[in-house]
Amino acid sequence: MRKRILITGGAGFIGSHLCERLLEEGNEVICVDNFFTGSKENIKHLLGNPYFEVLRHDITFPLYVEVDEIYNLACPASPIHYQFDPVQTTKTSVMGAINMLGLAKRLKIRILQASTSEVYGDPTVHPQKRLLGQCKSNWFKGLL
Ligand SMILES: NC(=O)c1ccc[n+]([C@@H]2O[C@H](COP(=O)([O-])OP(=O)(O)OC[C@H]3O[C@@H](n4cnc5c(N)ncnc54)[C@H](O)[C@@H]3O)[C@@H](O)[C@H]2O)c1
Repeated sequence: MRKRILITGGAGFIGSHLCERLLEEGNEVICVDNFFTGSKENIKHLLGNPYFEVLRHDITFPLYVEVDEIYNLACPASPIHYQFDPVQTTKTSVMGAINMLGLAKRLKIRILQASTSEVYGDPTVHPQKRLLGQCKSNWFKGLL
């Protein structure tokens, strides 16, 4: 059955591939992005698909849409980007997550919350140990 799926950060690196994959699987995708690090280039090949919709929106503000699943990937991922405006990064991580969790709660639907790999490792250790690398690749396998 066709699901309507919200992907925040859908114009980013992971999000744009996820949009592609979920469309291929026959779903309807709503891609939400403020285009801080993401780009229209990443999703331009999807724009002609009638089951694909793009909303320019910052998830630190509430969003009211009716969907069946949420993937919350909106957050600058690389240090150069997330350190550029630490207040906005914190707002995205906290208020954005609260807004998306609130939406999931209201709709009684499942949500996937992406996170930095630093939450399960020591950010001062680079590269991370093998076991942690393994977690990361499983995370990707699950997602893509
Ligand atoms: N790429 C990796 O190796 C990796 C590993 C582990 C976890 N993650 C996590 O996965 C998520 C996505 O990573 P990515 O590599 O695709 O990053 P990315 O920077 O390519 O994508 C993030 C997207 O979120 C958008 N965005 C940022 N703030 C926003 C806001 N307030 N409102 C709406 N959109 C906003 C950006 O414009 C961008 O399109 C991040 O949370 C990241 O920490 C990534």
